[in-house]
This record gives sequence, C-alpha cells and structure tokens, in this order.
Amino acid sequence: MRYFIVICLLLSSFVVAQEKKAKVSFKKEIMPVLIKKCMGCHNTEDEGPSGLYLDDYKELMKGDSKHGPVIKSGNSEESLFIQKLKGTAKFGKQLPRGKIPLDDETIEMISTWIDQGAKNN
Ligand code: HEC
Repeated sequence: MRYFIVICLLLSSFVVAQEKKAKVSFKKEIMPVLIKKCMGCHNTEDEGPSGLYLDDYKELMKGDSKHGPVIKSGNSEESLFIQKLKGTAKFGKQLPRGKIPLDDETIEMISTWIDQGAKNN
C-alpha cells in the first residue's frame, strides 16, 4: 500500500510538472531557430544533407529523410531531431555540424514542443 501511495504521488507531480510548462509555439519559437541554425544546409534549394529539409513545418514533419521521421510527436527522447542536437544519435555527428551546439535551453524548448504534440502552432 505504501508503494502505491508513493507511485501515485510521483505520477501526480509528474502530471503537474508537465502542465506547468508553457505551450511552445512552432512559428514563433522553433522556426526562427531552424532558419538561423539549420537552414544553411537543410534547405530545398541545396542538397539537404540526408534528404532532410527544414524549410517549413511540412518539410520537417514529412519523415522521408534517410533515417525516417526525425520527429516522434509526443516523444522527444526518441526523436532523432533531439538526439542529433544533443549528440546522442547512434550515427553521424552532433548538429549543427561543425558549429556551436544549440544551448540546453533551446534544446529543452524544442523537446517540450515535441512532447506537447509537435503541432504547427
Ligand atoms: C553545416 C551543415 C549542417 C547544418 C548547419 C546542420 N546540419 Fe543536420 N546534417 C548535416 C549533415 C552533413 C548530415 C548527415 C550526416 C549526419 O547524420 O551527421 C545531417 C543530418 C541531420 C539529421 C539526420 C537526418 C537523417 O534522417 O539521418 C538531422 C535530424 C539533422 N541533420 C538536424 C539538423 C538540425 C536540427 C540542425 C540545426 C540545429 C542541423 N541539422 C544543422 C549538416 C548540417
């Protein structure tokens, strides 16, 4: 019984913590980062490394790059996009390639957006 109560407490605090996070806007917060940090390489005008284009929401979510969908809606940890930014992916290098990695706050913000359902909001 005691364990049950502990688990309930843990679960409820988890839910509260999730709800507390402000909604992240793709258009206002994510897209500017992509334009600034990623589109130099991943754009439809150029080759788009690994067939990944980040010109807009549609391209990002298309899921036809070399290793399939890079965003797993609702699961940032399993999203290749986040693994690539953190440098934990099983192949290739940390991105943006040869440049300064994104700061933790920005990666956290993108993770939150994915966990909130990766909407075109
Ligand atoms: C200087 C060029 C360059 C920049 C800038 C860059 N990338 Fe890449 N990206 C690459 C190359 C080259 C690859 C293929 C090799 C690899 O996976 O490391 C790649 C691969 C990827 C992949 C893997 C796609 C797949 O299906 O295998 C993801 C995800 C990715 N990039 C995301 C990003 C994000 C997000 C940014 C911006 C924060 C970014 N990249 C910035 C060059 C770049």
